[in-house]
Amino acid sequence: MAFENLLTELRGEAPLKTGWITLNRPKALNALNDALMDELGAALLAWDADDTVGCIVITGSEKAFAAGADIGAMASYGFTDVYRGDYITRNWETLKKVRKPVIAAVAGYALGGGCELAMLCDFIIAADSAKFGQPEIKLGVIPGAGGTQRLPRAVGKAKAMDMVLTARMMDAAEAERGGLVSRVVPAAALQAEVQAVADIICSQSLPSLLAAKECVNRAYEGTLADGVMFERRMFHALFATADQKEGMQAFVEKRKPAFNHR
Ligand code: CAA
Repeated sequence: MAFENLLTELRGEAPLKTGWITLNRPKALNALNDALMDELGAALLAWDADDTVGCIVITGSEKAFAAGADIGAMASYGFTDVYRGDYITRNWETLKKVRKPVIAAVAGYALGGGCELAMLCDFIIAADSAKFGQPEIKLGVIPGAGGTQRLPRAVGKAKAMDMVLTARMMDAAEAERGGLVSRVVPAAALQAEVQAVADIICSQSLPSLLAAKECVNRAYEGTLADGVMFERRMFHALFATADQKEGMQAFVEKRKPAFNHR
């Protein structure tokens, strides 16, 4: 896949490969314009449909995961432009359609739309250099791609209000304490550490991965009773797969499972 604003590469040692997407507008600290977001949507959907891919990683540069939506591009827009054209936030929900696990590997700034993009991923692994923030208030607006909704769910109302109302940035250690990121690793080791995690994911049965992701998302977006029932149905359904037979038989025989993703 060739793009103007992204680099893409398949990596990994596991039976399924990891699709790496690197946001690549270095001169603008990976500011997320519509062209970049259109390409990101296309890359995500292509790998979601590719049977050789088990997991996707979105990353940026050492200095910035992404410094937000492109301020220069939107500075002159009026209400009718953004509302009718669905500008700035167009295409962001594409990430929600991806059924395979998506990891955000964040180094440097993840601000505004950059923080929102990371939160749209299934989980975030941060370099110790990472800085998260929703500074839109300084621009006379508010977060527009889910920041006011996902940040409180991740770090609680107090920290989210603090960040959204004052534009204060959260460093990697505070983000891990608050539950925004799952792990913090040394910046120099970010890609290797994330690939090691992705390899573990890519060693599992793909139907189980899809079901697990769907179930955890139910916990995030629905009621407990509905989520528990949904999980039970998915758990039972996985007994129809060949991979359930293989996974359990391999445990009994004290060997590694050889999943065929059926
Ligand atoms: N949009 C467009 N260009 C941006 C940008 C953005 N969000 N962030 C940085 N850039 C550009 C700068 O204009 C600059 O370009 P030039 O070299 O051509 O002048 C280049 O990237 C480097 O940036 P700085 O010189 O500012 O670098 P710095 O190290 O001094 O500061 C920073 C880094 C603190 C991240 C600072 O760039 C900054 O505050 N950026 C804006 C962050 C922001 O407000 N994000 C929210 C955007 S709105 C949004 O995201 C809405 C939404 O919810 C969808």
